[in-house]
Amino acid sequence: MAHAEARNFERQEPSPEELDDLIDEVEDMIDAIPLQIRDIWQKKFDDLIDNDVEDFKTWLEFKDNIGGLRDKRNSAVDKLQADFFIDEIDRYRELFVSELPFYEQREECSFLVELLEDKQNKIIGAGQVAEVFANSDHLNSCFKVVKDWRKYREGNNLLKEAYLQLRMSKFNSELIAKVPEVQYCAALDDFRVIAMDRVDGASLSELMLDIKRVPDNFEFDVFFREIQNTVDKMHSLNIHHRDLHAGNIMMDYETGLPYIIDFGLAVEAGPLFDEDEIYKQRLADGSVLRFNYDNLQLQEVKSRFKSALAGT
Ligand SMILES: Nc1ncnc2c1ncn2[C@@H]1O[C@H](COP(=O)(O)OP(=O)(O)OP(=O)(O)O)[C@@H](O)[C@H]1O
Ligand SMILES: [Mg+2]
Repeated sequence: MAHAEARNFERQEPSPEELDDLIDEVEDMIDAIPLQIRDIWQKKFDDLIDNDVEDFKTWLEFKDNIGGLRDKRNSAVDKLQADFFIDEIDRYRELFVSELPFYEQREECSFLVELLEDKQNKIIGAGQVAEVFANSDHLNSCFKVVKDWRKYREGNNLLKEAYLQLRMSKFNSELIAKVPEVQYCAALDDFRVIAMDRVDGASLSELMLDIKRVPDNFEFDVFFREIQNTVDKMHSLNIHHRDLHAGNIMMDYETGLPYIIDFGLAVEAGPLFDEDEIYKQRLADGSVLRFNYDNLQLQEVKSRFKSALAGT
């Protein structure tokens, strides 16, 4: 009887390729289970591999077990994402408006309407999302105007961007690498505007094209150490910038010191999030967008800037 059963089972034994596929699948799934227990399951996996376990049933059971853990985690992450990641326009509106003006009616801000129409405006910078302009009557301010706000689904809404920037700028007095202070926001017709302090300087991407403009008092090590310091502070507040490319780091012409700008992709994450979750975002169509890790991107910018300075 036992013999017959064994033979029966043998007939159903899958091919070595099927077993390999199953093991690969199981290995990928381990990455998706909760962080706290991932090591334990990784060890179980390693033990099965080390002992050359080729029994299909054992691997199927293993897969079922971690599949259940993964699903539990996904629903917990979805809930946390709803709490922390989804652009809750009302929440950020409330947070922002309690601190600074947000204009939605032309009558409330005729000065800005005039400013937006002013022929004296000078574009002082542009990114993928926005143009930043300055006006000779407002030397200390600049105005980030989103080019076509309807096109950008994945970025922050205006008030979330402005609020996260505002939160970081509150630490300017204790940090060397600062964040421009926000003055107000406006949503007028199709204009989405963040008015903020103007940095009298250039972004590192501009400086890499015109490296002679780096001021004499610039000190490479101090510059990048201080950016790291501000990024560490940001992370300790559970804010992650997620877009620290060379265009989003500026150097003040007078002091040679850094500014971090552009919180258009920044997030606030719960303290329990693991890094991987913070640096990806699920879009409404189900696709997943991945962002650059702040610390890695900073290292990359640092080494590119070093090469530019060395003239390589
Ligand atoms: N406060 C400021 N003072 C002076 N110049 C600024 C300021 N903010 C932005 N700029 C300039 O404008 C450029 C574009 O601004 P910003 O990076 O905010 O726009 P973006 O379209 O969101 O960029 P990205 O392409 O990174 O999404 C910057 O690279 C910088 O040169
Ligand atoms: Mg930018």
